[in-house]
Order: sequence, then structure tokens, then C-alpha cells
Amino acid sequence: MKRVAILISGGGSNMVKLAESMTGDHPARPCLVVSNVPQAGGLARAEALGLPTATVDHRAFGGDRDGFEAALIAAIAPHRPDILALAGFMRILTPRFVGHYAGRMLNIHPSLLPDYRGLHTHRRAIEAGDAEAGCTVHEVTTELDGGPILGQARVPILPGDTPETLAARVLVQEHALYPAVLRRFAAGDRTPIRLP
Ligand code: GRF
Repeated sequence: MKRVAILISGGGSNMVKLAESMTGDHPARPCLVVSNVPQAGGLARAEALGLPTATVDHRAFGGDRDGFEAALIAAIAPHRPDILALAGFMRILTPRFVGHYAGRMLNIHPSLLPDYRGLHTHRRAIEAGDAEAGCTVHEVTTELDGGPILGQARVPILPGDTPETLAARVLVQEHALYPAVLRRFAAGDRTPIRLP
């Protein structure tokens, strides 16, 4: 049975869907939810699900990324994860941290990578006049929002869409895509998933 640590920074809606999906004959189970934000709403949702939680406040480390990541690894290690799932985790990780978990760390990004790496993805897609948007689950490598793509889900951009209305439409697909990709990844299968 694979053990999955989920990293969050906010509400944790993706975390909830991932945790809820890991039941029955699923080859993985959640072993920890950790946040860099002590007040993250996802921590209370994780506790309500009976999951172990941890907090490593990045603000306590100022600009010391290595110090923060060493503390993060120290908080994670006792839970012996086989896989790390970044789910709304909003810190850029250094090559040291990524290397520590090379080949077993996933992230979900709210765009159709390689388009729109970085932030404000929905606003950028709307302003570009794109007909479609979506989300991508990828393996985390030292290249920001790079790494092999393990799944994508597409949604239409509709007339009158705002970044908020588009984000809400994409989030529904995130909640379908990420659990499907995690299940396949935990079974050792890296065949990409395309939705719809
Ligand atoms: C989602 O849009 C996700 O794509 C991004 O963070 C946002 C919030 O996710 N990574 P969650 O509700 O905290 O899972």
C-alpha cells in the first residue's frame, strides 16, 4: 500500500478529493496533510477526515528556503510517504527538495501546460482569447510547472467568463483529474489521462 503525503497552502479542496478517493482497492492511502500556512482551511478539513496534519510556517524562515525545506522534510519524514501530492501548495521548491523526492512528487496546475506556467493562469487565458482552458497534473521536476505530464482536463472558455467563473469550472475538473492520475501513478502506471 503506497503512502501519500499531501501538501497544501489553502482551502484544500483538491486534498479532500484525493483523500476521499484513497479507499477500497485503491493502491494508496493518505498518511499526512502538511501546510506552510498555519491557518490554512485545509488543515481543519484534513483533521475532520481523521488525517494526521503538520504545519511548517515558511514565514518563520524569512528568505531561508533551505531552512524551510529542511524543516518541511523533517515534518514529513516520520510519516514515511512513498508519494508527495502538491495540491494548492503555493511555495516554489528548490532543486534540493525536488531532488529529495525525485520521481515521486506530483502537482496540479490550473492551466493546459506548457501554456501559462506561473500565476494568474485563468486571467491570462481569457485575455489571450483562448477557446479552452483546463488543468494539468505533472511530475514535479526542478523546472517550474514543468515535468512529465500525467494528465490534463479541458474546459471551454465561455463568453463573459471572468477568472473566477473559469476557475470554478476548472476546479470541478481538477477534482476529477487528480484522483484519477494519483490512482494510476500509485499503481506504477504513468500513461497520461486526458479528460474529457
Ligand atoms: C486550485 O485552483 C489549484 O489548481 C491550485 O490551487 C487552487 C486551490 O486549490 N493549485 P485547493 O482548493 O486548495 O485544492
